[in-house]
Amino acid sequence: MNWKLAARAAKMNPSVLREILKVTERPGIISLAGGLPSPKTFPIQAFADACAEVLHNDGQAALQYAASEGYAPLRQAVADMLPWNVDPAQVLITTGSQQGLDLVAKVLIDPGSKVLVETPTYLGALQAFGPMEPNPVSVASDEDGVIVDDLVAKARDARFVYLLPNFQNPTGRTMTEERRAAVSAAAAAANLPIVEDNPYGELWFDEAPPLPLAARNPDGVIYLGSFSKVLAPGLRLGFLVAPKAIYPKLLQAKQAVDLHTPIFTQRMVSAVMKDKFLDRHVPTIRALYKRQRDAMIAALTREMAGLDVKFNAPKGGMFLWARLPEGIDTVTLLPKAVERNVAFVPGAPFYAGQGDPRTLRLSFVTASVEEIDIAIAALAQTLREELALVGDKQLAAAQI
Ligand SMILES: Cc1ncc(COP(=O)(O)O)c(C=O)c1O
Repeated sequence: MNWKLAARAAKMNPSVLREILKVTERPGIISLAGGLPSPKTFPIQAFADACAEVLHNDGQAALQYAASEGYAPLRQAVADMLPWNVDPAQVLITTGSQQGLDLVAKVLIDPGSKVLVETPTYLGALQAFGPMEPNPVSVASDEDGVIVDDLVAKARDARFVYLLPNFQNPTGRTMTEERRAAVSAAAAAANLPIVEDNPYGELWFDEAPPLPLAARNPDGVIYLGSFSKVLAPGLRLGFLVAPKAIYPKLLQAKQAVDLHTPIFTQRMVSAVMKDKFLDRHVPTIRALYKRQRDAMIAALTREMAGLDVKFNAPKGGMFLWARLPEGIDTVTLLPKAVERNVAFVPGAPFYAGQGDPRTLRLSFVTASVEEIDIAIAALAQTLREELALVGDKQLAAAQI
């Protein structure tokens, strides 16, 4: 059969991350690549209890079709959990926050629409937006997030700006209070909607991050949240909070995709969340991830000494961002690291425009402290060999 593909199918590419994850599934590899939460944090017993309870008390309803907006008690729980005044009618339960990105793309992007993104940004968002054929434009960014002057300069005719203020994927950076206030004011003045993606906000190590952008201007922000990082990603459960003006369109888009998010899962999570379960559970995740972040920073400081390697110290989340010395391309480095049984994600695919080939993302949450030590030592060894190779090539080129 000669399948004639839709033009949009040409815009769908295999996720670089998923391809890399395949390599990391090889036995013996220590993966600092994937964005997988630590399975040690999954509250299996709480789900076993909730599963039995839901089937016993509400079995028929839990296995029936349900409302597209989501399970009412869960929408209420989400509204109660958020740190600004949210009407549960504005909450749409989604099949992961990744679905929220897809719905936003369908409702707001035409072919050629300008969409502003951070430099770098979440690869999965670029992938979700891609089939709607936007023109993604990178806004210059620093350790505190997008730079306001550049945001203002590029805001004209943009459909929205996509922002990750907390422990960003991939860089781990956090937008300061001052920057949030300036971004929020600038976006409102430019009539620029914000799509705020916050799957990591609860995973802070020392202090909670500043208030979300949505709390500052609820009518100008679509806010995306997730249960993946505080409970388990296999649930595929997320939510969005949308202004009343746009909510019905997002709901219609969702109806067309999957009618509703699995109601069994929603009821189970609602049962798990009873009695403030997350207030007890999330601090255990924070403590574990903080220990692992500290271990990775200690290992990098020790193993990369003398090499021109820059890395940050994220205040939460799951990722650390590093920049290797001049002349190194992390895409070329990756297979050599894999030979030494360590995997990471090259940074370049996270850029909407020209990527920085020297960057890479390291996850500090999936591997144990002992594995982190071994993996960073192996990475440093791979880098030393690569630097020697690059040096030899430069020397040879100079002699020609
Ligand atoms: C920034 C960001 N947004 C959205 C998602 C999707 O998460 P979910 O599991 O809720 O679909 C991820 C997953 O890693 C992410 O890092």
